[in-house]
Amino acid sequence: MTQGNQTKITDELYAYALAHNPPLDAVQRELVETTYAELPTHAGMQSAQEQGPLLAFLVRLTGARHIVEVGTFTGFSALSMAQALPADGVLIACDISEEWTAYGQEAWKKAGVADRIDLRIAPALDTLRAMPAEPHIDLAYLDADKDGYIAYWEELVPRMRPGGLVVTDNVLFHGGVTDPLATGNTAAIRGFNDHVGADSRMDSVLLTVADGLTLSRKK
Ligand SMILES: C[S@@+](CC[C@H](N)C(=O)[O-])C[C@H]1O[C@@H](n2cnc3c(N)ncnc32)[C@H](O)[C@@H]1O
Repeated sequence: MTQGNQTKITDELYAYALAHNPPLDAVQRELVETTYAELPTHAGMQSAQEQGPLLAFLVRLTGARHIVEVGTFTGFSALSMAQALPADGVLIACDISEEWTAYGQEAWKKAGVADRIDLRIAPALDTLRAMPAEPHIDLAYLDADKDGYIAYWEELVPRMRPGGLVVTDNVLFHGGVTDPLATGNTAAIRGFNDHVGADSRMDSVLLTVADGLTLSRKK
């Protein structure tokens, strides 16, 4: 198979793309910088910088009012999405770390969106299972432990309203997903990608954005 017109992203091209995206605002920039300065060994978990404006764009595009995020870390993706919500919108943020999400809580307050974010500190599967079973979620962002992705997907999909969007991060898993002998998180993502591709309840496209992002729309 040929590569078609796929463009290889050099550092220069990446900087050019960022320069032609909406810039991060002061609170977003401070949160990204604080995460790298204070949690250097974990900061790579943060969604890529271009994903903030992209997630905000998707929130506005779908007119989402009810968002669920699985995997919040220091709160960059939650901040970006909450800022794009209408004032009466709600984002339920699922994580198990009080330490990491405390950075987010501070940033959400500074940005004036803390009242739109309902942080639930518990295993995300418990939080999802406790949610109403009927379709009510407009947009979900899946970005937590990779071996939980299929279970999270199975809890989210029935709860998505028709036309609702599930956005899943890290679906290329640092490029490892082409290895049929992969183990651990890479194997989990390979299994997840196959699972999503075979799910007739959703229309899905796998995009080569950042570490790979799948957009799935509920039929
Ligand atoms: C990749 S990071 C999320 C990054 C975040 N979306 C951002 O943009 O900064 C993954 C997060 O999933 C959380 N996590 C791991 N296992 C979890 C579980 N079982 N339930 C809920 N959260 C979990 C971790 O604590 C971590 O904060």
